[in-house]
Amino acid sequence: MIPGDLSCSCAVVPGYGCKENDFVELHTAIRERRSIRHFKPDPISDETLAAIFEAGTWAPSHGNRQPWEFVILGPKTRADVAARYLAALEAGSLKKPDLPEARKAAIRAFATDFGGAPVLLAVVGQAATSDLDRYDFPLACAAAIQNILLAAWARHVGGIWLSLAVNPAIRECLEIGPDQCVAGIVAMGIPEVVPEPKPRIAVAAKIRRLS
Ligand SMILES: Cc1cc2nc3c(=O)[nH]c(=O)nc-3n(C[C@H](O)[C@H](O)[C@H](O)COP(=O)(O)O)c2cc1C
Repeated sequence: MIPGDLSCSCAVVPGYGCKENDFVELHTAIRERRSIRHFKPDPISDETLAAIFEAGTWAPSHGNRQPWEFVILGPKTRADVAARYLAALEAGSLKKPDLPEARKAAIRAFATDFGGAPVLLAVVGQAATSDLDRYDFPLACAAAIQNILLAAWARHVGGIWLSLAVNPAIRECLEIGPDQCVAGIVAMGIPEVVPEPKPRIAVAAKIRRLS
């Protein structure tokens, strides 16, 4: 992309995009992002966090409603969420007798402090008032999460998308109404361990053509 080339819409916004390597960087982030479960204790600066969230706001949304809210969990809420997460695990998957003890210990360790992530946030939708909102808001919020994960990765910040809020006890901690969705809880920080890529099914097997 040539700077100033108006065939690219971002050229009209000074300072955004239109660098020659934009597409390469994006593709690299898409391919190299991993879900991170072990973080360094280093804090993420407010400036970096703001830039990452700003990328979230550029996600598409029906009618540009921008239904997302990025809720940063403070120490009390975080401890409440962790306690309820752990309780649910103990009552569920950690009861499975065939799950190896080492795996159980790793799951418990992650649930206790989210892998040491310095930032824990929930991406919450505004209250839905129609069937269309109920359909669209979680999707728009999910798009914002993916933007956040990729913008974070581009800045050497890792994250993991967690579906903890499927648990009503965890939803309670987030001070949201019954018509609000939680698209995900995201733990973020500098990766301590970057796992090997998980294999992907060949794209050809994921493409279907209708007559
Ligand atoms: C909607 C959603 C929910 C997820 N929930 C969890 C979760 O609760 N716990 C977890 O360990 N990983 C969770 N993940 C992360 C996936 O396990 C991970 O994306 C997948 O294994 C592929 O690995 P990768 O992200 O490193 O490519 C979730 C991912 C998505 C998109």
